[in-house]
Amino acid sequence: MKIVTIVGARPQFVKAAAVSRAVQTYNQSISGNQTTILELLVHTGQHYDRDMSDIFFEELGIPEPAYNLGIGSGSHGRQTGEMLRGIEEALLREQPDWLLAYGDTNSTLAGALAAVKLHIPVAHVEAGLRSHNRCMPEEINRVLTDHVSTLLLCPTETAVKNLKDEGIKQGVHLVGDVMYDAVLHDLPVAERRSAILRDLGLQPKGYHLATVHRAENTDDTIRLDGILAALQEISRIRPVVWPMHPRTRQVLSRLHPSLLADAIEDHSTPIPGRAGTHHGLRAINPVSYFDMLVLEKNAKLILTDSGGVQKEAYWLGVPCVTLRDETEWVETVEVGWNVLAGADRDQIVRLAETRTPPGERPALFGAGDAAKRTIEVLAA
Ligand code: UD1
Ligand code: UDP
Repeated sequence: MKIVTIVGARPQFVKAAAVSRAVQTYNQSISGNQTTILELLVHTGQHYDRDMSDIFFEELGIPEPAYNLGIGSGSHGRQTGEMLRGIEEALLREQPDWLLAYGDTNSTLAGALAAVKLHIPVAHVEAGLRSHNRCMPEEINRVLTDHVSTLLLCPTETAVKNLKDEGIKQGVHLVGDVMYDAVLHDLPVAERRSAILRDLGLQPKGYHLATVHRAENTDDTIRLDGILAALQEISRIRPVVWPMHPRTRQVLSRLHPSLLADAIEDHSTPIPGRAGTHHGLRAINPVSYFDMLVLEKNAKLILTDSGGVQKEAYWLGVPCVTLRDETEWVETVEVGWNVLAGADRDQIVRLAETRTPPGERPALFGAGDAAKRTIEVLAA
C-alpha cells in the first residue's frame, strides 16, 4: 500500500514524525500475506526557515521528503493554488492508495483537494476540530478537508460530535491525538539532550513561556498590542521567554522596531551573566521541538495562541492561558487547566496572576497510541 503524506508547516512535522514512526513499526510487525506500507512525504515548503522546518526533520528523524515543492509564503489564494498544482503533479506520478493530511493549514487543504479530484481517498488526521469561527483560515481548511475525506481520524470525542453535527458519520474513527504520542515518545529524549534552560540561564518554574502566531492576533494591531502589553507587564515579576514565530517577528519589527532590535536572542550560544536573575520579556528565535518540550515542561505558566502548545501544556501539567476568544481544545478548558483570555491586556495579566495547577488531568486525548491506531485503520 502506498501513502502520500502532505506536510508543510511546523506542527505537521511533529505529527508526521509520530505517524511515520508507526508506519515503520507496522512494517516490522506484519506477517504472512499482509502488505507493507510505503509512505512518501511531500513537503509543500509552506514553512522553510531552518528553525521552522529542517531542524524538525533532523531532530525527529523524519524521512526525507520525496518531493519538496518549495512553495514558500504568499497570499492564501496564491499559496494554496501553487500547492494544489504541485501536489497534483506528485500524485499523478505516484498514484498512491491514500493521501494523508494533518491538521488545518493551507498545505492540508491543498493536499485534500488535489487528491479528491483525482479520486485518491483522503485520510485526515486531527479531523473534526472546530472553533466555530469562520474568520479563521484554519476553520475553512478544516471544514473543507473533513467534507472531502474518506477517513476522519479524530483526537477527541468533541471532534467526533462536531462531525456528526455536520452529518459526517461514515469513516469516523476516534483514535486519540498523535501529538500526545509525540510528547510521550520525545520528552525523555528531549530532557536528556536539550541544554536550553542552561543556555538561557533559566530555573525550572522560574519563568513563563509565551508563543503568538495566529493571524487573528498578529494581523490586528489592537489585539497584538494588548498581548504585548500584557506580556511586558507579566515579565516585570518573572521572565517571559517568547520563541517568536517569523510572522509575529515581522509584524512587531514593523510596529515596534526598538522592541525587537536587541530582543531576539540567539540561544545557540550560552548567554553569560543571565543565570536565574534576568527579568523581562525575552524574545528568542523559534526553538527546536526538544527545546520547546523542555521549555514547556519547566515553565510556571504558558501563554499561547497555538493549538499544539495548549495541548502540550496540558500533557506536561502546566497551566495555560490561551490568547484567543475560543479554542478547538475545549476539554482542556473544561477540566480547568486552560483558560481563554482573549487579547485584552488586563484580562491576560489577571488570569496569569491567578492561575494555579488545578489537580487531576484525565486522559482526554487517547492512550498515546493514536499513530498506531491511525495506521491500523488505514491498513484495514
Ligand atoms: C501556518 C498555518 C497555521 C499554523 C501555523 C503553524 C495556514 C493558513 N496557517 O500559519 O494554521 O498554526 O502555520 O506555525 O496554513 N514565514 C517565514 N518563514 C517561514 C514561514 C513563514 O518568514 O519559514 C513568515 C512569512 O512572512 C509568512 C508568514 O510567516 O508570510 C506566515 O506564514 P504562513 O505559513 O502563511 O502562516 P503561519 O502564520 O505560519
Ligand atoms: N514548537 C516548537 N518550537 C517553537 C514553537 C513551537 O517546536 O519555537 C512546536 C510546539 O511544541 C508544537 C508545535 O510546534 O509541537 C506547534 O506549532 P505551532 O504553534 O506553530 O502551530 P499550531 O499548533 O498552532 O498549529
